[in-house]
Parts: sequence; structure tokens; C-alpha cells
Amino acid sequence: MSSLTETQTLCRLVVLISGSGSNLQAIMDCCTDGTIPAKVVGVISNQAQAYGLTRARDAGIDAHCLDHRDFPSRDQYDAALMDLIERPNPDLVVLAGFMRILGHDFVGKYLGRMLNIHPSLLPLYPGLETHQRVLADGAKEHGASVHFVTPELDAGPVIIQGRTGITKNDTPQTLAQRVHHIEHQIYPQAIGWFAQGRLQLRSGKALLDNQTITA
Ligand code: GRF
Repeated sequence: MSSLTETQTLCRLVVLISGSGSNLQAIMDCCTDGTIPAKVVGVISNQAQAYGLTRARDAGIDAHCLDHRDFPSRDQYDAALMDLIERPNPDLVVLAGFMRILGHDFVGKYLGRMLNIHPSLLPLYPGLETHQRVLADGAKEHGASVHFVTPELDAGPVIIQGRTGITKNDTPQTLAQRVHHIEHQIYPQAIGWFAQGRLQLRSGKALLDNQTITA
């Protein structure tokens, strides 16, 4: 029996991280077991200590640190980042816990072929410390969203969301754990759709099989 990887062209992914890389791991696992027709061809972190770099190297994937503190301006950092991203000729740029705001030129270059995952039910709770803010508000549910990246932070069209109820015993830690679990399901799913050519950004809307996605 021939495997998926032998019969289909694989979508080439460059994944940007800053930390643990558990989403990167979930994506790599889905690539390896053939759940999604994609291949991680590069991993870049702006933090040398990011454990995700180790995960990538352990999997035999090219992994680089590009430290923003080595660059005098955001534009210069973004330009160097684009150079590094382009080397393995990716089809899709995957932001997986990359804790940097990207400039307009960068976002423009990858418009429609750059995804992000955010730990909230967007448009609720863009920005940082989402678990704490959700609890402080007494919200009833929480979750994660995958979206196309557009110039406004955490505001691009949503592709898929996963939800979890909030109980009175929840803490930021318990929520973070459940939301991470959700992320590890929905991010590979969205990347799989893109890799299959089913997902597009058109006229500011996310389309799956030519139908507008309403999150
Ligand atoms: C995730 O919660 C993601 O939503 C946010 O950063 C976190 C990254 O976690 N953008 P990990 O490094 O993938 O474990």
C-alpha cells in the first residue's frame, strides 16, 4: 500500500515559535503519520532557549534561532526573518506561539499563506493573558482559534475554533492545559485543509471548499 507522502505533493511548512513548541509537535506528528499532506521544512525561533528548537532538531528538521535583539529595528528583523523563511521555499508560514508582532510588509508578503493560533474564542480576548482575563470576567466558555494573519493583531478571519466550558474550579493553569489540548486538534486540521487546497483567504474572508467560514 502506498503512503500518502508517496502519492501527494506535500505542502511545505515553515513554523515560527518562541517557546515550548507543543503545537509544533502536534503538527510534526500529523505530518509524520500522514494525517495531513504536509511537511515541516524549517523551524525558526526568536528565542534561543525555545524547547521547540530541540523538538525540531530531534525530528531531523532544520531549526534556527533569529534573535530580534540582534537587530536595530523591527523592519530589519522582519527582513532577515523573511530571508530565512524563504530558504526552504515554503507554501505556508505557521505561527505557533511566535511572540513577536510582525510588520505590515511581512504580513503583506504572506497574506493568505500565513496562519496563527490564538488561545481564545476570537474576536473575544485578543492579546495576552487570555486565560486570566476570561476567568476574571466570569465567562462561561473559552477555547482557541486558528485564523489567517492580517495586519491587525489577532483579527484575521477565523478558520476553526475549539471550545471548552469553564467551571468554578478552573484556574489559568487548568484552562491553559485544556486549551492546549484543543489547539493540538484544530491547528493540524486547519493546516490539513490548506495543504489539500481547500482553504483560502479571499476578499478578507476565509473560505473552505469555496464557502465562507462563519466561526
Ligand atoms: C499557544 O497557547 C498558542 O495559542 C499561543 O502560544 C501558545 C504556544 O504554545 N499563541 P506551544 O509553544 O505551542 O506549546
